[in-house]
Amino acid sequence: MLRTKIAGLGHYVPERIVKNEELESVMDTTNEWIIERTGIQERRFAKKHEETTTTMGAQAALAAIADAGITKEDVDFIVFATLSPDYYFPGCGVLVQRELGIAAQEVGALDIRNQCSGFIYGLSVADQFIRTGTYKNILLIGAEMHTMGLDFSTRGRAVSVIFGDGAGAVILQPTEEEDQGILTTHLHSNGTHAEELAMMNPGSHGGHHHEDREQFGFGDGDFEPIFLTQKMYSDGLQFPYMNGKHVFKFAVRKFPEVIQEGLEEAGLAPSDIDLLIPHQANLRISQYVQKVLQLRDDQVFNNIQKYGNTTAASIPIALNEARETGKVKRGDLICLAAFGSGFTWGSALLRW
Ligand code: UT7
Repeated sequence: MLRTKIAGLGHYVPERIVKNEELESVMDTTNEWIIERTGIQERRFAKKHEETTTTMGAQAALAAIADAGITKEDVDFIVFATLSPDYYFPGCGVLVQRELGIAAQEVGALDIRNQCSGFIYGLSVADQFIRTGTYKNILLIGAEMHTMGLDFSTRGRAVSVIFGDGAGAVILQPTEEEDQGILTTHLHSNGTHAEELAMMNPGSHGGHHHEDREQFGFGDGDFEPIFLTQKMYSDGLQFPYMNGKHVFKFAVRKFPEVIQEGLEEAGLAPSDIDLLIPHQANLRISQYVQKVLQLRDDQVFNNIQKYGNTTAASIPIALNEARETGKVKRGDLICLAAFGSGFTWGSALLRW
């Protein structure tokens, strides 16, 4: 039976390190608050006007391609997961194809908009293509440049201290080895909570989903744009919004549920997991999930302390760092899981 294996891995984080103390100088926050509530000590900021989500994604992709021992020209499909694309459209898939210099190949490029679960969704989509024999070298990238649009004033502190920039990538290939590859993927969503963690503007809604349309000051005329008005801009509605406590409550329930779902399908138990790599949303969430699943410290990998929450990039960055530090070995049972905006969540179980 054909399975999908991760044949190459790479990640890229910008050079500039921003410690919590630096944030204290631009907003009313403290190093202690950030560490106590999130575990984050520092994050990376991309170089504005020089780096973009696509350029960081391309750096990670080049590392993954080299790691897989293939050439750029061997890539036969691209999947790009991000919530912070270079452009509103087209997506980063085609931009990274051009950035890598392989546009002439004209391979397909798919953009995934599933925020924190983007990498798991991308992995599941790529897995279907590989197992059906459609493609042989899929490049899957998760990349984010959050700092392009965070509110670094005190008004935005509950969101902006959490997120960081970075990119991770994998090359996915078919394998016929019985003890290797992706065993299960499970994807879920519940749109009831769409606005609890969202960046709603600019968008086509024009107030449609809001009871109090007036507060946004949307234009009504047929020839008036409705996606971003001056009032919305001055009220800071162009920035992401997060109901942190609500997200936290669901995250700590859904992470263990979707991990158990994968384990049950594979006939395995939490004790069989060699390494759980949860999406790096908040160290407290990871610790809670670890406790519920009764996992030892050496069964869980976290690096949010260094990078903050890099959304679609967090799992491939963590997976690559775990491998670089010898925590991922051939034959290990690796569990990847994510939860975030949408709400969307998912898990993937694989034998390394
Ligand atoms: O990857 C996407 C998924 N996202 C998540 O998983 C995030 C899940 N949620 C969380 O991680 C947490 O809810 C946060 C870390 C975002 C917030 O922690 P919290 O313990 O839920 O704090 P809170 O929002 O209830 O705020 C507590 C207090 C508030 O002050 P008052 O009302 O008690 O006076 C906030 O205004 O902390 C204040 N606060 C801050 N203080 C200093 C909020 N942000 C900050 C800040 N620095 N950066």
